[in-house]
Parts: sequence; structure tokens; C-alpha cells
Amino acid sequence: MVQNPAPATFYVDAPAMRRTIGHFATGVAVVTTCTEGTPHGMTVNSLTSVSLEPPLLLVCLTIGARSTGAVSEAGRFAVNILSARQEHLALRFAKRGEDHFANLEVTYGQHGVPIIPDAFAHLECLVERELVAGDHLVVIGRVIRVCERDGEPLGFLGGRFSDVAVRGNEPTHWFF
Ligand SMILES: Cc1cc2nc3c(=O)[nH]c(=O)nc-3n(C[C@H](O)[C@H](O)[C@H](O)COP(=O)(O)O)c2cc1C
Repeated sequence: MVQNPAPATFYVDAPAMRRTIGHFATGVAVVTTCTEGTPHGMTVNSLTSVSLEPPLLLVCLTIGARSTGAVSEAGRFAVNILSARQEHLALRFAKRGEDHFANLEVTYGQHGVPIIPDAFAHLECLVERELVAGDHLVVIGRVIRVCERDGEPLGFLGGRFSDVAVRGNEPTHWFF
């Protein structure tokens, strides 16, 4: 492996990192889990597909956030991909210290993880591996169940929620 210079040589501060990486458009999801009968959830946009066979994904969760410890403890979680109409849920699950589930009727997946009603899609996962990276915990999940619905996903670009406009071209699955 190439030996890189010490990190201090190329210092990038947190606002610059956040602003610049924010040009990479993403969807918005809520990671949910349950410990001792208590549901937990947090809004994320760090969701990435890792592998198709076996089906693996990853999310990067802030170390110290309530839901991060809960995901580790439970060893399972769901990724609820929000629909264009669920901006209010993205905000709700991003507020620190709130009871995120107050007056929200959730269902429970096969493995006891809370599922957000009317989400665009959801994926139920078992924690396969965890890796501490800086101030986040990278959680790799093995996907054990998926569910898709009709509608439009919620987007996130430049620190703002956005619509996702699909072009009329064919899907590009054949590229990879
Ligand atoms: C659009 C959006 C995306 C976010 N993505 C992430 C993320 O990928 N990882 C993360 O740790 N926090 C992310 N956050 C911040 C968390 O949702 C927020 O800190 C949350 O309150 C933590 O949940 P807690 O109540 O379990 O501490 C995001 C927030 C928003 C609004």
C-alpha cells in the first residue's frame, strides 16, 4: 500500500468537508432498530450498497448518537428509504433528544425492527460488521428482506431536500 503523508499535511475542516461532499446527491433514509421494546431511529443519507451476492449495504452512524448504540446492541436494523412526501419524517428523525416515534404508528418487520409507514422502500438487515472510522461507526448490514412501493423518493443535495427527477432512459443495470 502507498504510504501517504501525515494527515496534518492536507487538513480539510468539517464545514468544507460537509459542503463539498454535499454536492453528491443522495436519497434520504431512516435507520430504525429496537432494544428492549424501545424503538430507535435516525435520519441518514450515508447509505451505500456494498455487495449484491451476498446482499450487503452500509450506513455511517455518528458515534454517540442514541440510535448508533441501539443498532450495535440489537445487531439488526431496517433502512427505510423515505418518499418525496416524507420530508417531515426526515426532520423528525434528525432532531436530537426528541421522542422520534411519538404518535407514529409503525409496524414491525420479521426480525422485530420498526418499519416506517408508507416509506418508499425498506430493507431489513442483520449487522454483519462494524468499523470505527473517525467520528462515525460504519455498519455493514446483511440484507435479509426488502420491500418496495410505488411513488417517488426524497432527495438531498447541497444540504437541502430535493425532488428526484428520473430521465426517460432505460435503466442502466447492464453496466454493472
Ligand atoms: C438529510 C440528513 C441526513 C443525515 N445523515 C446522517 C448520517 O448518514 N449519519 C449520521 O450519523 N447522522 C446523519 N444525520 C444526522 C442524524 O439524523 C441526527 O444526528 C439524529 O438526531 C441522531 O439521532 P439520535 O436521536 O439517535 O441521536 C442526518 C441528518 C439529515 C437531516
